[in-house]
Parts: sequence; C-alpha cells; structure tokens
Amino acid sequence: MRHALLPLLFAPVLTCGQAFNPLAVPPALDLDTFDLVVDEHVHQFYPGLNTATYGASAEYLGPTLVLHTGDTARFRVHNDLTQVTNMHWHGLRVPGPMDGGPPREIAPGDVWNVEYAVKNPAGTYWYHPHPHELTAEQANKGIAGLIIVQDSTEEALDLPRSYGVDDFPVVVQDRRFLPNGNFVFGPYGDSVLVNGTPRPYLECPAQVVRLRLLNGSNARVYPLGFEDGHDLVMIAGDGGLLDAPVTLDRLWLSNGERAEVLLDLTGLEGDSLLLMSFGSELPATVPGANNLIWETSALNGIDFPVLRIRVTAPTAAPVTAIPASLVPVTPYDEASATRTRTKVLSGNGMVGMGMFYINGLMFDMATVNDTVQLGATEIWEIENVSNMAHPMHIHGGSFYILDRDGLPPPAWEQGAKDVVLVDAGASVRVIMRFDDLTDGWPFMYHCHNLMHEDNMMMAQYIVVDGATTIEGLSANDPVQVYPCPTTSTVRFTVEHAVDRAALFDMTGKLRRAVVLPPGRQGSIDLSDLPSGAYVLQLSGAGADLRTVVVRE
Ligand code: C2O
Ligand code: CU
Ligand code: CU
Repeated sequence: MRHALLPLLFAPVLTCGQAFNPLAVPPALDLDTFDLVVDEHVHQFYPGLNTATYGASAEYLGPTLVLHTGDTARFRVHNDLTQVTNMHWHGLRVPGPMDGGPPREIAPGDVWNVEYAVKNPAGTYWYHPHPHELTAEQANKGIAGLIIVQDSTEEALDLPRSYGVDDFPVVVQDRRFLPNGNFVFGPYGDSVLVNGTPRPYLECPAQVVRLRLLNGSNARVYPLGFEDGHDLVMIAGDGGLLDAPVTLDRLWLSNGERAEVLLDLTGLEGDSLLLMSFGSELPATVPGANNLIWETSALNGIDFPVLRIRVTAPTAAPVTAIPASLVPVTPYDEASATRTRTKVLSGNGMVGMGMFYINGLMFDMATVNDTVQLGATEIWEIENVSNMAHPMHIHGGSFYILDRDGLPPPAWEQGAKDVVLVDAGASVRVIMRFDDLTDGWPFMYHCHNLMHEDNMMMAQYIVVDGATTIEGLSANDPVQVYPCPTTSTVRFTVEHAVDRAALFDMTGKLRRAVVLPPGRQGSIDLSDLPSGAYVLQLSGAGADLRTVVVRE
C-alpha cells in the first residue's frame, strides 16, 4: 500500500506550454555479449531540472538489444544499485533459470551471467527488472528497454527495418514529476514520455515507416490512434508478425503489450500527424479512465497527444507499399490441449494497490501454484470477477487467445501474445504450449499493472518433464524442509515431483497421510500435532523420500 493515494498537489505544470522535443531513440546494439549496467543516474527530462533515475547502461531506459532467432544470446547484468534487482526478458522463451523472475536476485555489486538460445520469431520484446515488490519502483525510475528479435522469415518481407531511419522504438510511459524534478512513484503520471522524451516529435520520411510500440507504463492503458484518422496498420503483436496487416483506427495497448505498426506517409512530405491516446474512450473499469473512486490524474478520461510525427523527404530506398500478407500464424489446436485451468481474478481495489487475488491467493514465493508437464498444451481460462481490468501476463512462452466471452478475438489479437487485457466481468481463454523447463526457477503469471504485480497479484508455475522424473527418482534425493522447527506449516522442496505425504511419529505410528498436488514443492500443516519430532515421507512415482521435521 505504498504511495497509492498521493493527492494531486502537483498539477501538470511541466507538461504545458513547452516546445516539442526531438524523440530520443536509444542506440540499437547487436553484440555477442551485452553488458547491462543497472545504476543510479540523474537525467534532465526538462532543461535545467534534475531527476533522479535508474537506467540500464543509460540515464533512463536502456539500449535496444538486437537478437537473432537461432543464435545464443549472452548478457552480463551488473547491479550497481544499493538494492537487489534482476532482469526479465519479457516475452522471450527462455529456460526457468534464465527467466529473471522474483526468485532470481542480483545482490548490489553482483553480476548475473545469462545465456540462452533465442527461440522466438522476429518481433518486439522487452527487458525490465522483476524483483519481489520492487518491480514497479525500479521500472518507474527507468530500467527497461526493447529487444528486437530478427529472423530470416521477417527479413524476406519488404518491411522497413532500418533502425532510427524508417523503423523506430516508441516506448510510451506516463510519469509524475515533483517541482524539484524528481519522480512521484504511483499508478499514474500526468506527463507522457515517449522513450523518455516529454512532448516528443519524430521526423519520419515520406514513405512506409514502422513503429514498435510498447506500453511501459505502470498502470495506464492507451487507446492509440491518429488525430486526423490516419490509419495504423498493425503487422505484429506481442509475439511476432500477424498473418496479414490489420488496418486500425484505434489500437489499445495495455501494460506490457507491444505492437508493430506501419504508417504509410507516402506523399505527405511537409505534413505532420499527431498520435493520440483517446483516453475518453476507456470504459470506467480500465485504468486511465476518469473513474472518480480511483486515483486521479490530469490525463484520466481525456484525449491527449503521445507523439507528433513530422514528415520529411523520403530516403533513397524507401519501402512504398504495405505487403498484403506476412507470415502464416498457426495457433495451437484447441483439440491438442490436455488440460484446462481456470484462473479467477477477484478482489476490489484501486489502480495503485490490492487487494487482488488469483484463485483466491496472493503471491507467495514459497508456493508453486501449478505444475505443468513439459510439452503440454493447455487452455487457461482467465475469469475476471474483480472491479477492474487487468492486463494478464504469462511467462514461459507465448499464447494465443481462443476467445473472449465466447467470441473469437479481433484480427489484431490473433497473433502470438503474452499479455491479454481482461476487463472486469470478462472471461478470456488462451491456449499455450509449455516447452521450457523451469528447473527449480518457477515461471510467473501475473497482472502487468506493475502496482498490482508488486501488491502480490501474481502466481507461479513449474514445468516438469514427467518422464525424467520417473527415471531419475531415487531414495537418495535430497528433501529440504523449512521452517524447522515449526509451530504450524512446514514447506518442502524435493528434487523430483511427489504427490503424497505421510507423517510418522517416532514410534512409527502413522499420524497423517495427505494427497498433494503433484510437484516439487508443497507444505504440510503440523499445527494440531503434539510437539516433537516426526518422520516426513514424501512419495511420488515409486520413490520415498524421508526426512525429520520438528513440531515446536
Ligand atoms: Cu513483463 Cu513478469 O513481466
Ligand atoms: Cu514476462
Ligand atoms: Cu491488475
């Protein structure tokens, strides 16, 4: 419940009456090993006004990292902050140990070496820290950046891809500033920053150009569109290209979502266009609407400019046409799903705080909420019975939306995704395949409203290889229990999945037998047993693991 209800003392004095600023375009790096140095900085968003920031090898935000499908990507993440951090590769399919969720902590002064094979298709992904309860604050201060994945399929298409020339990153964030220049951390800001630039303009050549949009805001949702109705032509969503371009006059971007759009500026040299957020169109249940019982912001419920585009002379080798088709998209077949899980989002809260629950629970780092078999295809049905919309994100792969309230998604949501906005009262079914082992480092699923995420609207799952588990089981597998001694519940972690627990007292008498959800972690309640030592026997697939637990 931190900083959620700051009064609107500091009206958007800083956003009014200022000149337009050229859009900052972070450098694009294409390296064998990326060094990301997370550190404290001071940055001037407004001339003469110092703002304390964090950055990843930059004063605010980080470089755009270019990866190639099929290659190995390597990173060294240096934590030069005075608090823990980590780094998550949002949308990328990486094994659990490389995913950088809350269990992974980089202590101040430490370096985390990361290496993974790039498996995703060409697209726009991003990186941001994900430390327990600190994600929103660290991202708010500026740690985030884009990842562009390239592959030969995308390269075979006639699309703009000269970074900074006809292909531009557009990271949209709202921030609130104090008169002394520092950020106010909270769900909403009243200054719009694009790539960290307030009131930005971008010079674009009079031809087809590509914008890679990311909603990097804490909580605000943006219904994007052009002031004069100029079309946005969406070619890619969170997880890569669509099968064909989709012409839109509005593109909703919720937190963590990406979209690649083409603009056809042919013949428009000397003209200018204004990319807007049509916030007046948001329903009252979506953060950014003017919902009077929630936190306020000068930008809520109004239409406001995001990016001015000034059209300049075409380049020497312009792309002048938008392709009619892109790449075949083949969503997982519904009939191939082996299981449906229902995830109910409940609770009543504000934009900047809880209490929100997933299946009645808040995040507990010591609890694994789901165990998924490696290679399985599953349907996850996300049902929102809470009071507001939540952008739900699942680590460990991309999914496809099967339906929203029983209806197939619109064309622009039919590609691979990793965030889906689930409005209050809505129910969305997604289908996902689980092809990466967690190997002791669970994958998260959570609301990507960063305030909700840090307020525990998150859960975790592990991916296990059933076959390996059976073969690899032996009576010698270590089992760890904690806390021990305990007055109530003892949690356990074992090397292989177990599905039964039995407790014997020291005379050998069975005191308790329970069936567990299969997994490598779980808990047993000892609270109603007399104090003393017990033998805990955990069993699964023919193996018995024993250890001693002590009831205080
Ligand atoms: Cu973009 Cu779990 O995060
Ligand atoms: Cu993620
Ligand atoms: Cu939420």
